[in-house]
Amino acid sequence: MNKRVFLLPGIACMFLFTSCEKEPTTTPYNFQVPVGFIQPNIPANNPMTVEGVELGRKLFYDPILSKNDAQACADCHTQTYGFTDDGLQFSIGVDGDVGNRNSMAIINLAWGTSFFWDGRSVDLEHQVFGPVTNPLEMNTTWPEVEAKLNANANYKALFKTAFNIDQIDSVHVSKAIAQFLRSIVSGNSKFDKFVRSEVSLTPSELNGLTIYNTEQGDCFHCHTLSNGLATDNSFKNNALDDDASMTDLGRMAVTGLASDKGKFKVPTLRNIELTAPYMHDGRFATLEEVVNHYDMGGVPSSTVDPLMKHTSGSANPGLNLSAQDKLDLIAFLKTLTDQDFVNNTAYGHP
Ligand code: HEC
Ligand code: HEC
Repeated sequence: MNKRVFLLPGIACMFLFTSCEKEPTTTPYNFQVPVGFIQPNIPANNPMTVEGVELGRKLFYDPILSKNDAQACADCHTQTYGFTDDGLQFSIGVDGDVGNRNSMAIINLAWGTSFFWDGRSVDLEHQVFGPVTNPLEMNTTWPEVEAKLNANANYKALFKTAFNIDQIDSVHVSKAIAQFLRSIVSGNSKFDKFVRSEVSLTPSELNGLTIYNTEQGDCFHCHTLSNGLATDNSFKNNALDDDASMTDLGRMAVTGLASDKGKFKVPTLRNIELTAPYMHDGRFATLEEVVNHYDMGGVPSSTVDPLMKHTSGSANPGLNLSAQDKLDLIAFLKTLTDQDFVNNTAYGHP
């Protein structure tokens, strides 16, 4: 092609003496897939850039996305607690209203296939719309948030750089936050170092791993380790309630299928030590209580997962773990804690 074609705009600028604005340029974000992980799902219509991730981080920590600028995403998703809230059973929204679900960890969501306990969002761009307008969370409207952001010169400049837009809208707010959420990766726990043969596990942790990864405890079929994620991203009923006491329909509220009653997203167990209390309704305060639930086998129901083979209604109730086995399983779960993740300043308050 003729080189002059490219020179023309530049020459025009020089002659016209106008302030020829340069098109903003973005830097592709260098997404590192940890050793042993499968490839993530980064959508082609929202490629990660350094500028987009940084803008998303700023928005995540800014109460500007809530009614009366009172609450940020980070208030319910705090890095120290694996991006859950600080030990609450149910989250408290901007108006002091108490929700009905336990705040979820934000860990390795670049690999996620659906979001929220019931999976009602199929991508992170869509997920971000939820909390901003949820009356039990940030309880505002998008026109209000867009007006506040458009009145803010700093945000105007940041959106211009990240997305080359002059008018900020909800779609680009969600794109930026989704980029930041995808950048939050945990893959350097003691367990990861063990997989990479950099450290060894104690005999207790090793026994816990065996229980986890064999039929003895059978955690691995749902909280799969072989993909790196400690979840298989499916929806399952892990025998918490019988049919009569299932107050939260879980996945069924999304699909309308009776066969999905009481099924919830299998959560990652990465950094599980930091994210108490546990389950969609935060019913268990400690890992000891969780392990006791699985050891007893839970209760039968019409949708209980076939992998929950030892419910109180089965021929063979309970896992029959010894007291030491239970301690070992918990010791293993704690090897999934990743201090580099918790202390990574790239995920912290900008
Ligand atoms: C009032 C507390 C609260 C606020 C504020 C809040 N969240 Fe959440 N978040 C929750 C709760 C509770 C859930 C689980 C809700 C459910 O399943 O119905 C959740 C779930 C999520 C999930 C799903 C994770 C998964 O594994 O599926 C993501 C992602 C998320 N929030 C991001 C955000 C972002 C981004 C913001 C800010 C725009 C935000 N949250 C604001 C409490 C909050
Ligand atoms: C049939 C699939 C399945 C099996 C097997 C299974 N889990 Fe789960 N696990 C789930 C689901 C689904 C949830 C979320 C349930 C809910 O909140 O209603 C969960 C939740 C958890 C939680 C709480 C996570 C959080 O963020 O609140 C822990 C801890 C846990 N499981 C550990 C284990 C251990 C340890 C084993 C093995 C002894 C095990 N699981 C076996 C499906 C399973």
